[in-house]
Amino acid sequence: MSTEKQNSGTIASQLKEKIRNRTANVAVIGLGYVGLPLAVEKAKVGFRVLGVDQNPKRVDMLNRGENYIDDVKDEELKDIVEKGLLTSSTSFDCLTEADLIVICVPTPLTPNFDPDISYIRNVCNEIAPRLRRGHLVTLESTTYPGTTEDVILPILERSGLKVGEDFFLAFSPERVDPGNKRYTTKNTSKVVGGVTPACLDVAVTFYEQTIINVVPVSSPAVAEMTKVFENTYRAINIALVNEIMLLCDRMGLDVWEVIDAAATKPFGIHTFYPGPGVGGHCIPIDPFYLTWRARQFDFHTRFIELAGEINIQATYHVIDVVSRALNKVGKCFNGSKILVLGAAYKKDISDVRESPALKVIDLLKKEFAEVSYHDPYVPVINAIEPYDWAMESVKLTAEELQKYDCVVIVTDHSCLDYEWIVENAKLVVDTRNATKNVKNNREKIVKI
Ligand SMILES: NC(=O)c1ccc[n+]([C@@H]2O[C@H](COP(=O)([O-])OP(=O)(O)OC[C@H]3O[C@@H](n4cnc5c(N)ncnc54)[C@H](O)[C@@H]3O)[C@@H](O)[C@H]2O)c1
Repeated sequence: MSTEKQNSGTIASQLKEKIRNRTANVAVIGLGYVGLPLAVEKAKVGFRVLGVDQNPKRVDMLNRGENYIDDVKDEELKDIVEKGLLTSSTSFDCLTEADLIVICVPTPLTPNFDPDISYIRNVCNEIAPRLRRGHLVTLESTTYPGTTEDVILPILERSGLKVGEDFFLAFSPERVDPGNKRYTTKNTSKVVGGVTPACLDVAVTFYEQTIINVVPVSSPAVAEMTKVFENTYRAINIALVNEIMLLCDRMGLDVWEVIDAAATKPFGIHTFYPGPGVGGHCIPIDPFYLTWRARQFDFHTRFIELAGEINIQATYHVIDVVSRALNKVGKCFNGSKILVLGAAYKKDISDVRESPALKVIDLLKKEFAEVSYHDPYVPVINAIEPYDWAMESVKLTAEELQKYDCVVIVTDHSCLDYEWIVENAKLVVDTRNATKNVKNNREKIVKI
């Protein structure tokens, strides 16, 4: 065996040993919905975690032990900060103290729907000059197949260090489902792809410390493709039920009844539900990473484009349904008072990124309706591009509900009492079948 190979074997073994006995320090870059829960999980099992975020407000809050992410328990965060297991900074200089570097920065789309991987590039430009022998770098941000090896690797190798020998590089997509109480980071299987077999080996050892089932795959590109495929699968299946919803509307059928009946088949069908459109940082965005990448291979992802179109159409359909519902009671949009219930993109969370509720509010405003909203998780909606308005959540009381010509349920938060809402509202448009179990006053409900 060559001395170089022997050395790299020793570096990998030493790092694995440090991981197993928890003397390895973990740096987490990007402390948002993905990075903060991950940092907490690692600290809880005894790793010293060094958080890096460009947002000084978030860093200050964390260093005071204050939480800002729903999925993180306040007392757990406080505890690990007090024990000195999580310290955060806006500076990348702590990377020299780290052994493991996990990247969790955003991967949005540009205004032209192309991948914006500038956050990943910026972070790698900070890591490269601080990279040393024995570092493991893993990327958890969702991205197109090829990013780890085509974008990250060349930047990190500018350090003069060699992957698989001096340092290790892997991609392992985060699959967190915010608000999901049953599947957490720990019991959700984790796919890992390493640039070399040694990279995979070290990365698997790292993830096995906090995750019950780690799934090694043959390359980072397979792991990258797995993640975008999963989200594309969801986007397309939601689009399919949204199309069935549009057709059922035309045919005068209740799509919810059709779906519930179809769901009784014990095989060959997986239930998805229609709604006011898709939101969040994943489903409306990730499939377009694949579309963009596919074009470089002279390939057009027609399903993805079509799903995107139908899911956008679903949001406009809500406006049509509200218009028809108002018309039936002799009202038009202009001057009508409308209460949108729910601003978050899905139930029981506070995330409004890409939320269809924002688009619904905007479209209703453009029709000259007087729009208010209530969301127990979202006290304020700040002016977010492309919208030029900001709003505060109104208090939900019987008198408040009675003020509106129509209440539009856009997010089906579990804590809301739908029986009481329908009882006090004049008219309810329900885009989520949130009123499924409402017994009385059903004549006031119009479902999409
Ligand atoms: N939110 C989800 O449900 C979810 C689930 C799975 C995967 N993902 C993926 O994980 C990635 C992160 O998403 P998120 O929802 O956690 O985003 P987020 O916006 O909640 O958090 C990202 C954090 O990164 C910080 N940041 C941005 N640029 C930085 C830089 N140059 N240096 C240091 N910090 C920087 C931001 O200040 C922010 O705190 C994305 O690729 C996303 O697609 C998200």
